Amino acid sequence: MRIKPLRKAVFPVGGLGTRFLPATKAMPKEMLPIVDRPLIQYAVEEAMEAGIEQMIFVTGRGKSAIEDHFDIAFELETMMSQRGKSLDILDATRLKPGAVAYVRQQEPLGLGHAVWCARDIVGDEPFAVLLADDLMVGEPGCLKQMVDAYNKIGGNLICAEEVPDDQTHRYGIITPGMRAGALTEVTGLVEKPAPGTAPSNLSVIGRYVLQPEVMRVLETQEAGAGGEIQLTDAMARMIGGQPFHGVTFAGTRYDCGDKAGFIQANIAVAMARDDIGPQIEAWLRR
Ligand code: UTP
Repeated sequence: MRIKPLRKAVFPVGGLGTRFLPATKAMPKEMLPIVDRPLIQYAVEEAMEAGIEQMIFVTGRGKSAIEDHFDIAFELETMMSQRGKSLDILDATRLKPGAVAYVRQQEPLGLGHAVWCARDIVGDEPFAVLLADDLMVGEPGCLKQMVDAYNKIGGNLICAEEVPDDQTHRYGIITPGMRAGALTEVTGLVEKPAPGTAPSNLSVIGRYVLQPEVMRVLETQEAGAGGEIQLTDAMARMIGGQPFHGVTFAGTRYDCGDKAGFIQANIAVAMARDDIGPQIEAWLRR
């Protein structure tokens, strides 16, 4: 089997972010900052580290700040240059022409629908999906760990993490097969199982490497949990026909779609920083 190289990544950013209202009324959730970088930038940098060449954003109304963030800021840059300020801080935000594409999800019908909206740009290639609200802190980065696994075994990969039993109803849950190191064979998937019915406590986290066939499956995918078209349901239908593995990430995940997770991420990232870490730690101890 020839493993096709992974060159493209889809960033679904079309959700409404209702858990962060009113902050997200006029500002995309993905632009919420962890210290001094928006969530979406951490995800894009993670993709770049993993060798991704084209970033595909699935946006919606009110998300134009994301497009501006990854563009040239002519006035700002001219003014900074005139004042002798370095532009290095903006490096990772200036995506090269051709390395970025935007497609619109007119209605937030669910994550599966958002991914399907990118089908023409993805074409007949494997692709990664990154959900920016899962902030993955580790070295190497989460997607790099997954790409290393993909280059060995190919197929479809899902980032997997064990969650407490009383939390399984909030996640997509994996029915595990054989395990080898960080890899777990996926023999079934269920989105948000009712409490007490989960097949395991191995949950699906917001990083995926998928084969293009999933787009065809999504085309006929009906709404599932929460009335949304679920990516998990489409993946579940592919199991048996295509290899699926869970990859346990060596690192820490922060659920930044949730207020408590977002605050924890800010504190953890701030404490790990050379510039402000000591100051924050001293303040927390006090
Ligand atoms: P969430 O389940 O966190 O939904 O989506 P949400 O709407 O963004 O946030 P809440 O629950 O209302 O607070 C997970 C990811 O999928 C994207 C979101 O932008 C987020 O990155 N998404 C979700 C879409 O792009 N489109 C959708 O229709 C749904």
